[in-house]
Amino acid sequence: MSENILFPTELIEKLRQAKKVMVLTGAGVSAESGLPTFRDMLTGLWENYDPTELATPQAFSKNPKLVWDWYAWRKERALEVKPNAGHYALAAMEKHIPDFYLFTQNVDGLHQEAGSQKIAELHGNIRKYKCFAENTPVESWESSEETPPRCPRCGSYVRPDIVWFGESLPERVLQAAFDMAQNCEIFFSIGTSGTVQPAAYLATLAEQTRATVVYVNLEVKTGRRGNIYNFNAKSGELLPALVKATWS
Ligand code: OAD
Repeated sequence: MSENILFPTELIEKLRQAKKVMVLTGAGVSAESGLPTFRDMLTGLWENYDPTELATPQAFSKNPKLVWDWYAWRKERALEVKPNAGHYALAAMEKHIPDFYLFTQNVDGLHQEAGSQKIAELHGNIRKYKCFAENTPVESWESSEETPPRCPRCGSYVRPDIVWFGESLPERVLQAAFDMAQNCEIFFSIGTSGTVQPAAYLATLAEQTRATVVYVNLEVKTGRRGNIYNFNAKSGELLPALVKATWS
């Protein structure tokens, strides 16, 4: 299947020559690993909940056990699955480009598991925890029956180290992403619906600064408009094919 994807020659040539490349990924990249995308997530036990209403500090204050259990369920699924060919292709791409950076909105840790090293997490990581009151990392806590557990320093609840709706993204990471979006030669937006700010604005910035922008998701219509290339394709198929067409 991936062998059949045809890439415009000038895109391959640009990628081969590129010195500075930025990639933004979203939930779609992990779909082929078996993790549902953010907006498809609520099946089974959770089908009556709205994710945008669970992923907030207000929801945690109101019902900490409910939000904790939702993240525990998601973490369990993230730990069960493996990176897919799309994750590995991005880890391979990193090695060919002198100034490469991957910014991910995903919290599942699969890019790192696939070997990506030049990576920053915009929305945190579901495998990490912090104190709800003090925002400081919490690595362990005393086991007890209580859910969520308590911070060993201050006794407040422990929460997942995730950026929730209404919270700020880590400032230095976001600033680095804005800088890179304005200075890269090629910007890839992969497996993201581009609906959640400020991450979504990064592609707009890259378009405005006339970078070559490549969108890969299941919503766009495949085609080219000036410097913008759209691929309606699965990242686990398109990315390995792109890496192969460019560097082998
Ligand atoms: P979404 O669920 O909004 O969008 C997933 C995108 O992936 C859609 O555009 C799909 O077409 C595309 N897609 C699905 N399967 C794919 C595949 N195999 N290959 C390529 N693309 C595929 O997820 P995000 O854009 O990541 O934030 O959502 C952004 C943020 O919204 C999440 O990080 C989360 C949520 O709010 C927080 O939790 C803070």
